This record gives sequence, C-alpha cells and structure tokens, in this order.
Amino acid sequence: MAAKPDNKQIVINVLNKARASELAAILQYMSQHYELADSDYGQFAQQLKLIAIDEMRHAEMLAERILILGGTPTSQPDMPAKKKMPVLEIMKYDAELEEIAVRDYNEAHQVCRDGRDSLSAKLFEQLVTEEQIHLDHFQDIIGHIEELGSAYLATQVGGAAEGAPARGFVASQGGAPNAQA
Ligand SMILES: [Fe+2]
Ligand SMILES: [Fe+2]
Repeated sequence: MAAKPDNKQIVINVLNKARASELAAILQYMSQHYELADSDYGQFAQQLKLIAIDEMRHAEMLAERILILGGTPTSQPDMPAKKKMPVLEIMKYDAELEEIAVRDYNEAHQVCRDGRDSLSAKLFEQLVTEEQIHLDHFQDIIGHIEELGSAYLATQVGGAAEGAPARGFVASQGGAPNAQA
C-alpha cells in the first residue's frame, strides 16, 4: 500500500494541477490572440495577448512556490488549445475557463489552509482575484455582443495587437488588490 501523501505533497500537487491549467490557458489565449488579429479584431487580440501574459505570470508564480517546497513544476498543459471558434464562442469558452479557475483555486486555497501552508493559500487568493477580473471582462464582452451585435463588434475592429506594453491585462487595469508583487 502506498504511503499517504503528507501535507506538503498535497499542496505541491494542487500547485502543479493549477500550473497545468495555467499552461493550457496560455496556449489557448495566445492562439486566440493570433486568430482574432487575423480576423482584424485588433482590440480583442490585444486583450487576449495581455491576459495570456497574466497566465504566464501565474504559471511562474506557481512554479516558484513548487520549487521552494521541493517539488518539480510540471511543463504539461492539462488540455490542448481549441481553435477556429467564432468570436462569441471564444468569449463564452474563455468565460467558462475562468469560472472553472475561480472555482478550482478557491478549493485549492482551502487545501493549502488545511495543510497549514499560508503562503500557498495566499498565492491562490491572489490568483482567484485575478481570474475574477478576467472572468468579469469576458462576461462584459459577451453582454455587449449579445445586446448590440455587429454594432459593438465594429468598434473592436482594427488597432494593432503588436507593440503595446506587455505587462498583462490585470496590470493594464491598475493591478489587483492585495497583489504580492
Ligand atoms: Fe491564471
Ligand atoms: Fe485567467
């Protein structure tokens, strides 16, 4: 019979599970950045680029915490990027991804608290706050498209996705409350 994993290993496992979903989100949003730029939705493309950069920051924060705990950060995304969706489907799919992230990270936060690892718990708290900002943004876009349709979409056409500062979406909105760094 395998030994029961200790608290530290349980926390490393939830950190790595989160890292795998961040890696998948990076690939998903980068691919949408290119597809939306290709369809001339420059504003959306730029936003997806910045959100992908937020997810990269999350993946690195998780890896750093895993290393401090003596684990090995995974390099495997937990699913492939879905491609060639119409713009409204993209936004609905992304809102769903963010909703799942908020739910999973809230659970992970509790696992870390139960494992008496307050720094990992705090990290998940920050991730929940930032994924919630992403979720609100995708839901706003869905609301605008459903309400205004092509009139709204026309306002998102054009504007280069290249050359803008690459600090991430949350930073471009003034940052998350209680950010660690
Ligand atoms: Fe993330
Ligand atoms: Fe996100």
